[in-house]
Amino acid sequence: MKKCSIKRVSALEILDSRGFPTVMAKVTLEDGTSAVASVPSGASTGIHEAHELRDGDKNRYGGKGVTKALKSVSTISEALQGICACEQKEIDRIMCELDGSENKSKLGANAILAVSLAAARAAACFFGMPLYRYLGGIADISLPTPMMNILNGGAHASNNIDIQEFMIMPSGIEAFSEKLRAGVEIYRALKSELSRHGYLTGVGDEGGFAPDLRDEREAIELILEAIRIAGYNEKEVCLAHDIASSEWYENGVYKLPKTGKSYTTDELVSYYGKLVSDYPIASIEDPLAEDDFDSWARLTSTLKGITLVGDDLFVTNTERLKRGIEAGAANAILIKPNQIGTLSETLDAIRTAKHAHYRAIISHRSGDVDDTFIADLAVATGAGYIKTGAPCRMERVNKYNRLLRIEAGI
Ligand code: PGA
Ligand code: ZN
Repeated sequence: MKKCSIKRVSALEILDSRGFPTVMAKVTLEDGTSAVASVPSGASTGIHEAHELRDGDKNRYGGKGVTKALKSVSTISEALQGICACEQKEIDRIMCELDGSENKSKLGANAILAVSLAAARAAACFFGMPLYRYLGGIADISLPTPMMNILNGGAHASNNIDIQEFMIMPSGIEAFSEKLRAGVEIYRALKSELSRHGYLTGVGDEGGFAPDLRDEREAIELILEAIRIAGYNEKEVCLAHDIASSEWYENGVYKLPKTGKSYTTDELVSYYGKLVSDYPIASIEDPLAEDDFDSWARLTSTLKGITLVGDDLFVTNTERLKRGIEAGAANAILIKPNQIGTLSETLDAIRTAKHAHYRAIISHRSGDVDDTFIADLAVATGAGYIKTGAPCRMERVNKYNRLLRIEAGI
């Protein structure tokens, strides 16, 4: 038995940032080294995501308990005994085989991913390496640009705004710590601006403000004003949006649940054209529905120069990404490890994206945890971008603080 072999895997039902149960797994190696990892959970989930196993017992946590997933971890523990923790591909292959389903519905992607990530972290600890070094190797590192969601709408807030995310992207600023500083200063300026206009400054699930506003244009104008007041310009800081439009889509029409407006695909395409010509928007995520590859391809060739990010479209799934690449749909992929359920498959999706010159953006979920794995993943893969919320709520800020430590080498 090698010292780095897995001795056992255990798991605990913990809470995510919305207070819903989630899985924390602990991998212990033969030499006594151990590490934990916990998994996040989405609200505006794509239908093609790997299955998140929940108990469904309404008497416990309204059905959201994860005790079945904990049982899965016990099964996994037996299967992984004696496997070297640094054999990530093998570990993930064994778990996928044990599950045997298309979408990890038997053991649950929440159980599988927690073990997959904890194994990688245990291996990094075993070798005495920072996680980003273990995952990324000896190459020069580059820190990602944060895409900070400073105003929340859609399924992440109970305000009247249908667009899910209004982000700022300080891509024209050099150092990560200075990018973060700009984000924080703009966030604070936005808070003052909202108060000055008599709006509420309570926050949504990802830490962005969540006021009722006239419409999305007012939201954008308030953010642009905040950028100006904080002393930055549009070359340094631009805008990005996650429309999360699959949430609106029903029988070929986009029906906005809060405002009651409705759009055909063509109308929505022209709406985006107008929006990017009126405002400094660099990136739009999920502008169209998750299965409409043809319209995505049309939009991608129309909105030249804009980053079009497939989140629900690709669900971190290499097969769906390849289909998109073939069709010319989108030019970037959002990477959420729990959409696919193993670290190896997540790395595959990133590799495939890079190869096709698609941008990869590493992302949190709206229900997140006190685990900073994605910060290390962003650095290790040189992804260039990370989406991890506003500089508010510790489950978001902890990723930024981890990146500050990596940047400083501390
Ligand atoms: P989710 O939102 O975690 O609720 O899916 C994040 C996103 O859509 O990017
Ligand atoms: Zn999204």
